[in-house]
Parts: sequence; C-alpha cells; structure tokens
Amino acid sequence: MEAIEAILTRRSTRDYKPDGVEQEKLDVILDAARQAPSGGNNQTNHFFVIRNQTVLRELIELVETAFAQMELAEDLYSSLKHSIAASKKGGYAFCYNAPMLIVVANRKDYGNNMADCACAIENMMVAANALGLGSCWINQLKWLNETPQVTDYLSTLGLKEDERVYGSVAIGYPASGLPNRKLMKQKGNEVTFID
Ligand SMILES: Cc1cc2nc3c(=O)[nH]c(=O)nc-3n(C[C@H](O)[C@H](O)[C@H](O)COP(=O)(O)O)c2cc1C
Repeated sequence: MEAIEAILTRRSTRDYKPDGVEQEKLDVILDAARQAPSGGNNQTNHFFVIRNQTVLRELIELVETAFAQMELAEDLYSSLKHSIAASKKGGYAFCYNAPMLIVVANRKDYGNNMADCACAIENMMVAANALGLGSCWINQLKWLNETPQVTDYLSTLGLKEDERVYGSVAIGYPASGLPNRKLMKQKGNEVTFID
C-alpha cells in the first residue's frame, strides 16, 4: 500500500481476532516504531511487545482493579470516566482483548517523552494498516503510570526506575476480517493559511 493511502485510511480497530501477528509483520512494525523521529534524536522510547496472553490477562485485571478503586467524578475526561465506570461494573478489557499490546515507555524526566512516544505509535499504526492489520491507541496505562500496582508489575517486565508509560497500541487482525478503513469526515483540526 502506498504511504499516503496508508496514512489516510488508518482507523481505530476495537474488536480483534485472537490470532497472533506474524513475526515478519511485527518486525516491520517495530522498525517503523524505532525509525520514528525523536527530540534531539534521543531515541529513549522503550517498547514492550506483550504477546504473552497470561501477562496480558494479568495487566487487564490490574488495570480494572486500579480504575475500579477511583472515584467517578462528573468533571473527569470522558474516556477516563468510561474506564472507571466500566471497571466498577466489571469485565473491562482496556486493550479490547487484542492478541498483542505494544507499550511505549520513555524517561519520566524527559520533556519530549509523550511526543516521541506519539511519533512511534503513529508510525506503528500506519504500518499496521499497510500490512492489513488493525490497531488502536490505548491510553489507560499512561493514566495509571503513577499507580504503584501497575508500575510495580511493569517493572517485573523490564520497566526501568526512571521510565514511565506514555502510550500503548493494540495490534491484531480485526474481528471483521479487513482493517477498518472507513474514510472519516474530520470535524476539527483547523488549518489556517498564511500566504
Ligand atoms: C492520544 C490518544 C489517546 C487515545 N486513547 C484511546 C484509548 O484509550 N482507547 C481507545 O479506544 N482509543 C483511543 N484513541 C483513539 C481515538 O479515539 C481515535 O483515534 C479517534 O476517535 C479517531 O478515530 P480513528 O482513529 O478511527 O481515526 C486515542 C487516540 C489518541 C491520539
């Protein structure tokens, strides 16, 4: 698929087949992530490719427990409110039961941590689309990146003392077969020309 087409047709997928992603495709996706630009060419993103289903299940339970303990205040960001409400109800799988979650951490004291993470995640999502895979940015681990139960668990997977999670991406084959490539009319993202 041509680059511009891959960018323009990327849409979020929130329902996955359990089938894993082929290693050759994952290698391309990780290359796309690691070749992303970074502030000052720092290259301090740290990628955790979680394919182990027991680990994913444990993470899903930890996230649900952490959100269920939070207060559901009316003025919270709507997605966070949804995560808390769904966790209190039970059965909340923050990464949509995708077969793979790539968690992106970076140095917590580095000013471009979130920006570098975003560049890498967008590259991965576009590459996934070009390879016939679905993907979705998953923000819950970032919201919980100062929650000890979650960070302690991530430390057992290799998260370093000075790192925190700034985003993650679910990747897999969409349950519907083909990636969601619905063209969307954008409602915002204003452009101002200064000629
Ligand atoms: C910073 C960021 C955080 C996001 N967090 C989540 C999330 O936690 N869960 C989710 O389902 N989608 C998440 N999304 C996906 C957006 O909801 C989605 O990109 C947006 O609705 C536009 O739809 P599209 O991706 O299909 O074009 C996130 C996207 C971004 C850029």
